[in-house]
Amino acid sequence: MTPLRIGVMASGNGSNFEAIVQAIQAGRLGADIPLLVVNNKNCGAHQRADRFGIPVEVVDHRGYTDREALDRELVSLFQAQQVDVVVMAGWMRIVTDVLVDAFPERLVNIHPSLLPSFRGLDAVGQALQAGVSISGCTVHIVTADLDAGPILAQAAVPVLAADTHASLSGRVQKQEHVLLPATLQQNAHRWRQG
Ligand code: GRF
Repeated sequence: MTPLRIGVMASGNGSNFEAIVQAIQAGRLGADIPLLVVNNKNCGAHQRADRFGIPVEVVDHRGYTDREALDRELVSLFQAQQVDVVVMAGWMRIVTDVLVDAFPERLVNIHPSLLPSFRGLDAVGQALQAGVSISGCTVHIVTADLDAGPILAQAAVPVLAADTHASLSGRVQKQEHVLLPATLQQNAHRWRQG
């Protein structure tokens, strides 16, 4: 079967990006990553892509007049690579309709909470603050509303009495690294165009 062409956007450490790469290499995900876009040339995601020989473009948001202009550049880069789906794997910028409309039902985000709880920044901190006993992570389709698009898959993570931000984040991330590639594989038939 034709590999799913996945474009990835990341701003930070890139552990979810690497989880996708590892799943591809292990044969658990029938896909290629023709392009990673980062907005910070020194981020961990960029270093991981270099290690795996995956092409990277740096799109520094500071060079753009507004969010729409930044997103137009992202659309043009991903369209040039004819990607089937775009994954926001820790993209720390708010995206606009320009990106959402260019990839309808084909823009995917991973968020570290059980949505619709704890949308927005620092979802792990919000969960600890709220005192919930179960949190987790969500893979969802991106729409114009922040962290509110249709849910594709979720994994639950118990919150322990002794949890710190770091310990809970670590356990949530472990689940993310399983959930994201598995969800991409499960939904690949919806996106594959070739
Ligand atoms: C993840 O926790 C994800 O849920 C959130 O950003 C984080 C990215 O982590 N959207 P990493 O850069 O993949 O390690």
